[in-house]
Amino acid sequence: MSQVVVVSGGGTGIGFATAKYFAGRNGQVVVVGRRSNILAQAVEEIGRAFPSAPAAIPFTADLTLPDQVEGLRDTLKEKFDAFDVLVNAAGGHVLRQHPASAYADGLAGVARRWTDNFRLNTLSAVLLTEALVDQLRAPGGRIIFVSSIAAYRGSGQGCYGAAKASLHPYCYDLAKALGPRGITVNAVAPGYVEDTEFFGAALSETQRAGKLAEAMNGRAGTPDDIANTIGWLASPDACHVTAQILQVNGGAERGR
Ligand SMILES: NC(=O)c1ccc[n+]([C@@H]2O[C@H](COP(=O)([O-])OP(=O)(O)OC[C@H]3O[C@@H](n4cnc5c(N)ncnc54)[C@H](OP(=O)(O)O)[C@@H]3O)[C@@H](O)[C@H]2O)c1
Repeated sequence: MSQVVVVSGGGTGIGFATAKYFAGRNGQVVVVGRRSNILAQAVEEIGRAFPSAPAAIPFTADLTLPDQVEGLRDTLKEKFDAFDVLVNAAGGHVLRQHPASAYADGLAGVARRWTDNFRLNTLSAVLLTEALVDQLRAPGGRIIFVSSIAAYRGSGQGCYGAAKASLHPYCYDLAKALGPRGITVNAVAPGYVEDTEFFGAALSETQRAGKLAEAMNGRAGTPDDIANTIGWLASPDACHVTAQILQVNGGAERGR
């Protein structure tokens, strides 16, 4: 029987690579994001790459909005008795998406930046997890969060790293609560990963070279690097691994 795998942010970047990872192993993948056209493209590409896997299912939702997450939960409940894997990859740094000038001056701008990053990175993962947790297969279910190197060493203005770091205690508490049911809960914390929409076109060659130089292997991460780690955490080989944050960054968090 195919594993049922829900991937938030599954239309692009790390989430898309993760969706392909599971489809390549005959998984029934559900990809979630806000842009239906991007999800349709992702589903088409997955279908072309893995024609014998169950057709991937796109679901359009803004995961920061409780009613949209409830809609997703109710629809999926009608289709599936249980889920095997939930991957919370949706997120991003709002200051990479909007220039600082898009925010008001003073404390109003500070409040907005911190709130936006919290909603995008923390709340999106918490709402989707709370919506689906009771339907995770037990034993054997897996919840995986996507954190960031920024949770360990900051992100310039604190607000993105803080939002990612707040997923860690949630991961530990869930792991403790779900351990007796044979469900593991972990997070993967990537360093600099290219070929996603995270940085857009914003990095200059100098900035990029600086990021590559931080990694002990001198290279950027790829979406597949992260997907492979997520895939391992979801596998039976990792059944005794829970309440862990796995850093995948070529050693960049320690620096060179
Ligand atoms: N790339 C890096 O260097 C890096 C490093 C560390 C951690 N990360 C983390 O890795 C995860 C994946 O990022 P990525 O690099 O693959 O960037 P990405 O290509 O921008 O992926 C983010 C995905 O999240 C979706 N998303 C954003 N807000 C959403 C919302 N409110 N509701 C539903 N879906 C939403 C986006 O789709 P829509 O816009 O269509 O909603 C997009 O598919 C993120 O959590 C990011 O913080 C990335």
